[in-house]
Amino acid sequence: MAEKNQRIVLASRPQGWVSEENFRLEEAPVPEPKDGEALVRNHYMSLDPYMRGRMNASKSYSASVEIGQTMVGGTVGEVVKSNDPSLKPGDKVVGQLGWQLYGTGPAKAFMKVDTGRVPLSAYLGPVGMPGVTAWIGTYDICQPKAGETLVVNAASGAVGGVVGQLAKMKGARVVGIAGGAAKVKHVVDDLGFDACVDYRAASFRDDFKAATPKGVDCLFENVGGEVMETVVARFNPFARMALCGLVSQYNETEPQGLKTLFSILVNRVTMRGFIVSDHMEKWPQALAELGAGVATGKIKYRETVAEGLANAPKAFIGMLKGQNLGKQLVRLA
Ligand SMILES: NC(=O)c1ccc[n+]([C@@H]2O[C@H](COP(=O)([O-])OP(=O)(O)OC[C@H]3O[C@@H](n4cnc5c(N)ncnc54)[C@H](OP(=O)(O)O)[C@@H]3O)[C@@H](O)[C@H]2O)c1
Repeated sequence: MAEKNQRIVLASRPQGWVSEENFRLEEAPVPEPKDGEALVRNHYMSLDPYMRGRMNASKSYSASVEIGQTMVGGTVGEVVKSNDPSLKPGDKVVGQLGWQLYGTGPAKAFMKVDTGRVPLSAYLGPVGMPGVTAWIGTYDICQPKAGETLVVNAASGAVGGVVGQLAKMKGARVVGIAGGAAKVKHVVDDLGFDACVDYRAASFRDDFKAATPKGVDCLFENVGGEVMETVVARFNPFARMALCGLVSQYNETEPQGLKTLFSILVNRVTMRGFIVSDHMEKWPQALAELGAGVATGKIKYRETVAEGLANAPKAFIGMLKGQNLGKQLVRLA
């Protein structure tokens, strides 16, 4: 094969905010699949907040990326060679090939997908890991009931946008929190939330109070910091909180937690952290429902697409700063 593989490796570990210098673009031969393996040309790769944690040396729920290793991540692409009967050239697959143009892996590590009704890229967004995260946190932990108020922050993002739409399907009043007027408008006008509040506005606390006149029964927490404090202060008795992410803290050298637990105590709140990969038994049902939702237009979503592997570091940093609307992807082919 004449074409070379390109990949982005971790060049150094960030101290505080990640920068483009922490990454390095390398060329390498296109790998050959072994017995039982397939070679895949990636069409899109996913950029996700969790990748910031993998750049640290410290222990988390998953192993760190080592210096010089290809950055990890979800990918969708096309099989170009296969040494396993379950896959053939031309098959479209979801994989975990990371920040590179080509990758090989055991055939069973790829999930063959149907792009007839759902676009390939959506398998990295609403019909992929972010969608399943929304599904588990909303249905298993928040469990919104008709008439209750569910709040989700990073509401215009890959996870948050789906959370609100799933909660609306259960009859809840859904209030989003997002950064800036354009995102707020998108969340209400396009995604159908009942309200959305701009956390960057000076009037955020008052605006949030006005948007939650009956308090908060469910919180799908993606952000942490002051935004989380504002919501927690408005919990109703027996509220449920799905602690999904703390993106405002990922680049902090001294991450902050909740400053006070009074609201959790006096309101007898159930708070549960969760990691989507711990719940593999739920994925088939979640993906089937999310796929049907996207195919029928019941679940709406947006994508922000960076062009080419070389632009991945810039797009990743931009996503952590809120420059994405919806799912942040990089187009590779
Ligand atoms: N537990 C799990 O298994 C699991 C799985 C997937 C994702 N997650 C978590 O879910 C959250 C959302 O992920 P995603 O993939 O959907 O990302 P995303 O929302 O598409 O993108 C990140 C968004 O975070 C918001 N943000 C960044 N800094 C912020 C700050 N200082 N204050 C408030 N908002 C800030 C930005 O939106 P604004 O412009 O609105 O600020 C940005 O667009 C993340 O915390 C992620 O780690 C957890």
